[in-house]
Amino acid sequence: MKIAVLPGDGIGVEIVAEAVKVLNNLDLNFEMETALVGGAAYETYGHPLPEATLKLAKEADAVLFGAVGDWKYDKLDRPLRPEQAILGLRKNLGLFANFRPAICYEELVDASSLKPELIAGLDILIIRELTGDIYFGQPRGRRVATDGHFPGAEEAFDTMRYSRPEIERIAHVAFQAARKRSKRVTSVDKANVLETFQFWKDVVTEVGQQYPDVELDHMYVDNAAMQLVRAPKKFDVVVTGNMFGDILSDEAAMLTGSIGMLPSASLNASNQGLYEPSHGSAPDIAGKGIANPLATILSAAMMLRFSLNQEAAAVRIETAVKKVLAQGLRTADIFSVGTTRVTTVEMGSAVVKAL
Ligand code: IPM
Ligand code: MG
Repeated sequence: MKIAVLPGDGIGVEIVAEAVKVLNNLDLNFEMETALVGGAAYETYGHPLPEATLKLAKEADAVLFGAVGDWKYDKLDRPLRPEQAILGLRKNLGLFANFRPAICYEELVDASSLKPELIAGLDILIIRELTGDIYFGQPRGRRVATDGHFPGAEEAFDTMRYSRPEIERIAHVAFQAARKRSKRVTSVDKANVLETFQFWKDVVTEVGQQYPDVELDHMYVDNAAMQLVRAPKKFDVVVTGNMFGDILSDEAAMLTGSIGMLPSASLNASNQGLYEPSHGSAPDIAGKGIANPLATILSAAMMLRFSLNQEAAAVRIETAVKKVLAQGLRTADIFSVGTTRVTTVEMGSAVVKAL
């Protein structure tokens, strides 16, 4: 079991260290190799996704990823920005299916900004298409740009596009996931305005005919954003494009109390996967030892389940996480009166102990 460990920037380094600690305490044999990615790689190699890092990721069975990005790189030309590293990994490894579960842990019901009754027992799965849409549409650029930078340009544009096979394969992923859950899929689009998403809706509907046992409904993205905070438990599997999935998954994450709790898996057609927390590099709290490592630790559990075929070990980690929450241990993001505040490292150690 070969794992490429790519901590990246900001809190990425701290939280990945805790996930690695947990993996090392499972009595399984992993071959883990660490490499620089994002801003950290740019500093050393002048590129956010160096050849060696990409090669390591491609040759691994799975990638454990932290986060990339820092405001200090905002002035760099787009191809050199840290975010290009994760986009490049997704594209190069063909990781088109992004699973972002939003589960509300019983102990954290009060950490949410929503009323407890709205989110108690919440368990939804956002499936975000990850290698198409406006993120990767061509051409991209700014008209009348001056030396690659925005000032002086008169116009900017990105192209939204999806091909039939791209929509079909993510739709299949969603219907198959729904079969293992409550057999309901909501496809989120903006078919009332965008051609791309009328096409999306048509293709998802066609694929749905092969799954007569799964109930399919369609929702416009603005309405979906509203329903997510109005009655989130009405959703089960949500499938959507790259851009809407980016936005809705952050929203769904917050329903659960903290985006610091949510893992994600990005898979290709051969179940090779990249596993990362749904949150970002949070440069404002980096180095303070207060970041929540649980999203990354739970991502490692998803990695064991989906790419490494170690279901029992995945369950062990998830059970350990529930246990530390039940013990009342909380990092700052999920802290509330009456619980015990712990650091990033203490949280990781508590999970190891609970294993
Ligand atoms: C995410 C992030 C990324 C995205 C960024 C860092 C490129 O927000 O994984 O959701 O937009 O996909
Ligand atoms: Mg995002």
